[in-house]
Amino acid sequence: MRTTSRYRAARVITAIGVVSLVAACSGTGGSTATGGATGGGYPDKNITFVVPFSAGGPTDTVTRMIAEPMAAKLGGKIVVQNVEGAGGTVGAGEVARAEPDGYTVLMHHIGMSTAPALYQNLDYKPLEDFQMVGLVTEVPMTVVARKDFAPKTLQELVAHVKANASKVTLANAGIGAASHLCGLLFQTAAGVKLQEVPYEGTGPALTDLVGGQVDFMCDQTTNTSGQITAGEVKAYAVTTPERVKSLPDVPTTTEAGLPQLQVSVWHGLYVPKATPPDVVQKLTEALKVALADQKVIDQMAKLGTAPVPAEDATPEAHRAKLQEQIGTWGKVIADAGVKAS
Ligand code: MLT
Repeated sequence: MRTTSRYRAARVITAIGVVSLVAACSGTGGSTATGGATGGGYPDKNITFVVPFSAGGPTDTVTRMIAEPMAAKLGGKIVVQNVEGAGGTVGAGEVARAEPDGYTVLMHHIGMSTAPALYQNLDYKPLEDFQMVGLVTEVPMTVVARKDFAPKTLQELVAHVKANASKVTLANAGIGAASHLCGLLFQTAAGVKLQEVPYEGTGPALTDLVGGQVDFMCDQTTNTSGQITAGEVKAYAVTTPERVKSLPDVPTTTEAGLPQLQVSVWHGLYVPKATPPDVVQKLTEALKVALADQKVIDQMAKLGTAPVPAEDATPEAHRAKLQEQIGTWGKVIADAGVKAS
């Protein structure tokens, strides 16, 4: 079922945070008894990582993977808060307007580059209202369906949706979400317009797909891998040039006859524009440590993805990526003639 509440109880990543706090108090990790601050006093209270989609979805999963090692490096506590709605634009807007003190951080993905072309009244400007912290990971997508859906291959799926366009339901996480973008590319490639069912995240969407309440969707391997391996959903293809090592039996869209459907979901961390540079630097350093953490590398590999190279976990590389992607997807969306509002 679609989730209605905009907020999820914030879950606190404390294990490492408490250890660092105690270490700091005993004088081994930092200078003050209050927050285990190391240099400059930051952080000296909880840091909130905002995820603009529902708990349990791919964006939430990637955030929680890196939050623990980042908290350890920063010597503080990280609280993950889900602020859903409108394809990720509600959460992004709230972070754009948050106090620029380093205590509110946004995890977002390719949706940061699609929103400007989709939302005429977007209440933030991605390149002007945020500081980039660094890129995190680039996740393949999968085209998946409920396990009893008739089409057996991607080509059969295209034929089926052409013949039954008014009846087939395509789930996504709202206009501007990665799942929406991938669905748009699929419909353009197949030459159809389907009935889209928006959720506040692909976590709940996948639950309904497994339950048979919706027919198919595009979603990231960080969400679908477990259900594909368990045989709970049918996987037609991965949307990357090469097969995904952890899903060896799933063909690429090129192998499956739909080479136009290529997309992978890049993720980055953002803070409000006026956040002090030394705070941004501490966050970037903590991000690099997290991406080099073997546990994170292994978790990501199991879910079909990998950390970006260290040289991409920087504000400069992140800004360049966002600039290029706004241009790329702006054109695709204009050609498709899609608008959210
Ligand atoms: C998306 O489809 O953009 C996101 O992956 C949704 C989510 O993280 O729930």
